[in-house]
Formats: sequence, structure tokens, C-alpha cells
Amino acid sequence: MSGNIPILISGTGSYAPEGILTNADLTRMVDTTDEWILSRTGIRERRIAAPQELTSDMAIHASRAAMDAAGVKPEEIDLVLVATITPDMPFPSTACIIQNRLGLRPVPAMDIEAACSGFLYVLEVGAAMLRSGKMRHALVVGSEKLSSIIDWEDRSTCVLFGDGAGAVILSRGENTGEGVLSTTLGSDGRGGEILYMPGGGALCPPTPASLADRQHFLKMNGKEVFKIAVRVMEKAALEILAEHNLQPSDVALVIPHQANVRIIELLSSRLGMPMEKFAVNIDRYGNTSAASIPLALDEAVRAGQVKKGDLILMVAFGAGLTWAASLIRWH
Ligand code: UT7
Repeated sequence: MSGNIPILISGTGSYAPEGILTNADLTRMVDTTDEWILSRTGIRERRIAAPQELTSDMAIHASRAAMDAAGVKPEEIDLVLVATITPDMPFPSTACIIQNRLGLRPVPAMDIEAACSGFLYVLEVGAAMLRSGKMRHALVVGSEKLSSIIDWEDRSTCVLFGDGAGAVILSRGENTGEGVLSTTLGSDGRGGEILYMPGGGALCPPTPASLADRQHFLKMNGKEVFKIAVRVMEKAALEILAEHNLQPSDVALVIPHQANVRIIELLSSRLGMPMEKFAVNIDRYGNTSAASIPLALDEAVRAGQVKKGDLILMVAFGAGLTWAASLIRWH
């Protein structure tokens, strides 16, 4: 049965641009302090891509590292999926741009947009397509140049976000019970207005007026997003564990979306899981949206924090509103 085909994360990779923007740097740009940013968010610094460095460039670095780690050659990739809200351009997709630049075969390639939940969305779509039995390896990427849609005059958002990329190779495995056990995805479009970017689409094409009105930047009601984030992440995590008759105590490592360390701390206390079980790198990268989970996963794998047999829980929420949780039995 195709549903039983195990799907493994056979390699991980990530990339963070060289440019570092510290909290001290931000105090020279907007009315803020290191103390406010650190205590309210847990962020010390974030990476900012160079002007000519695009979402596809970062995706390519992360993808090459993931292919190397998996021992999979470009010609073996059967599918490319990219999660991003900051594609190089509305079309062609960033997935097609990297399909070309990585020299892949003419395989299916597409972007999927589910904001900060995007990586877990592409993970699930990739796993489902591999389970259909026709494909062997998928390149699944989250890459963001959020600095290109941040309003650098809005202190309530500009301190939060950063640029980066993470990638995994998903491969069909042999042993059932290993790899991606399942993923739960959800959305509630009623929350669309609390985190959005009005400009750039059919609603608000670029005009001098829309530019002057700062419509082409991310807008957020942080307080509302915060409350919903904690609730939906807890719910998604408990639901997916219950689906497999597992308890929070069975989980070896949680890779949460890195939006605010206070959100992660609340999740930790609500799930009754110590903070030591949570991968946290928000202090160095800020919120990198779709890149945040694969970046943190790659760091954990490379640091030797993930061992064969470990149960890994990945959990995210984002604009849409969207949310997602994924359970992996590491192979
Ligand atoms: O990936 C999903 C995307 N986003 C998120 O997950 C974000 C979720 N939300 C959050 O992380 C938090 O709500 C924020 C970090 C955005 C804000 O923290 P908060 O504790 O909810 O602060 P607040 O918005 O209630 O603002 C408190 C005060 C306000 O001043 P008054 O009205 O109390 O005088 C803000 O104007 O802090 C002020 N403030 C700042 N002060 C210094 C807002 N931003 C800043 C800043 N520096 N950068």
C-alpha cells in the first residue's frame, strides 16, 4: 500500500547570509532598545541578505548542503518544493529558478505559500507525492528574504525578522515506522487581517500612492498573533501525538517555529516539556518564517542532537492563519 511507504529525511542543509544586524544596530534605526527586544522576543541579532542575494540564492546553498548530506545527486531529485512568502518574483516560482540553477532534470517544481507554517506544508505535500510511489527523492526547501518586505521604520515588526534558508531531502525508505510518521495541517482565514501584506497583488498593485502609503510591507497585530500562536501550536502538537497514542514525554526534541522565545516557553509549560527539549536559535536568526524550522532542524542534526529512534516534533503557525505539526521517527 502506498500509504505505508516510509518517507525519510535523508539529509538536511541550511544557509544564513553573512550580514548580521544586531539589536544595537536597530537602536540607531528606530526607537527601541536591546533590553526591550531581548526581553520581549529573545532575539539578539538576525541575518540580513546582501541586496543582490535572493531567496533562490539562499535556497540553493541550503539545497546543495542537504543533497551532500543525503548523498543524493542533482540528477536523482524527482520533485522540488519551495515554501516562501518572499519569492524572487511572483513568477516564475522560486522552485523553477532553483530547478534550473541546480541543473536538475525537468521534474515538477512549485512554490507553496503558507507563511511560517510553509515548511511543514511542503514537507507534507512532498511526503504525500513520494508515497504515491512514482518518485524517490524530493528537494523540500524553506527560504526567505524577509528583509525585502519589512518596514524598516516600524519598530513593532522590524526587530523581529531575518533572512535565511533550510532544506531537506525527502527519500523513500525501507522500514515502516521510520521517518515522517504524519503531519497535521490547518488554516483559519478569518485571522487573515492580523498578519498580512496588502500590496503587490491584485488588490493593491504597485503605484506611487501604494508605495508612499507603505502598503508593500508586512503588517502585524503582534499581540493577537501571539495569543493565537500559543493556542494553535499546543493544539496541533497534542492532536498529532494523540493520533499516534504518544505523550509529550515520548518526544526527544521539539523543533518549534522561531517567532518569539516567550511563545516557545509557554508551549513548553503547556505541554509539560522542559525547555531543554526545544531547539531554540531565535537569538541568532530572529523569525525567518518558512526557513525557521528547517534551519533549526539542520543545526540540531549537525550538532548531533538527533539520534536514531528519536521522536522529533515540529510545530508551526503563521499568516493565513495557518498551523502545522509533524512527527518524525529519526532513522
Ligand atoms: O511568525 C509569526 C509572526 N509573528 C509572531 O509570532 C509575533 C507574535 N507576537 C509577538 O511576538 C509580540 O506580540 C511582539 C514581540 C510583536 C510584541 O510584544 P508585546 O509584549 O506583545 O508588546 P506590545 O505589542 O503589547 O507592545 C508593548 C509596548 C507598546 O508601547 P505602549 O503602547 O505600551 O506604550 C509598543 O509601542 O512596546 C512598544 N513597542 C516597542 N518598544 C520598544 C513595540 N515594539 C517596540 C520596540 N521597541 N521594538
